Amino acid sequence: MKDSRDLPRITTYVLKEMKMRGEKISMLTAYDYSFAKILDKAGIDVILVGDSAANVMAGYSTTLPITLEQMIYHGASVVKGVKRSLVVVDMPFGSYQGNSTLALESAIKIMKETGAQAVKLEGGREILEAIDRILSAGIPVMGHLGLTPQSINKFGTYTVRATEKEEAEKLREDAMLLERAGCFGIVLEKIPALLAKEVAESSSVPIIGIGAGRWVDGQVLVLHDMLGINQDFSPRFLRRYHNLEAEILKAVNQYIDDVKNLDFPNEYEQY
Ligand code: KIV
Repeated sequence: MKDSRDLPRITTYVLKEMKMRGEKISMLTAYDYSFAKILDKAGIDVILVGDSAANVMAGYSTTLPITLEQMIYHGASVVKGVKRSLVVVDMPFGSYQGNSTLALESAIKIMKETGAQAVKLEGGREILEAIDRILSAGIPVMGHLGLTPQSINKFGTYTVRATEKEEAEKLREDAMLLERAGCFGIVLEKIPALLAKEVAESSSVPIIGIGAGRWVDGQVLVLHDMLGINQDFSPRFLRRYHNLEAEILKAVNQYIDDVKNLDFPNEYEQY
């Protein structure tokens, strides 16, 4: 099996070149060393240490409770497993909103203590000052528009965003503002495919979609959802590439039987 870790490192510059030559960008989340190492070996372009860790690693119903320290723990674990992929760490809720000094401090702490290459923030014009300060410190920033889960209490629902003219227009403008500010890429979550297409075509930075259709520059999914580890979440945009829950259940059931029946360990598995 090929090991992509010997190929040249992915940088924000490489992602821009990929967009220019029409090569799609692959991105998945990871939260720990072992999975990050496998994704990197497989050749994934970008690994997002998503604040979805709050859901799939810690069992919270929203992404709001995860702390800066917890994101740093996940980020540092991922970075240790990666040689080639670009690692982006989500800035958690409360670590940047409404205070650009705090935003800069949080971003610097993430970069220093994880060794990641970039951070991601949710929002448009409301957080431009924070983005400016972070970029001024030489830290690459990825934007995130559309369904922004840290604002779930404002939205009140995880349904598709920007279906109405006014919200779609705001999203177009926000994408332009993020690009002008210097973001190296933007995630668009759960918005109409034609709107995402328009944004991708009018933008010079890579637009990565999740539930944003096929006409964007790349795709991202939550690892636990696409591997079928987490079976509780089945939105229309999610393609499951495996049923890992079933595989794990099978293996663990076999182990339990082997222990109960004195089949494990056998004479070769002892000293
Ligand atoms: O936290 C996360 O996993 C994300 C992706 C859904 C883009 O932000």
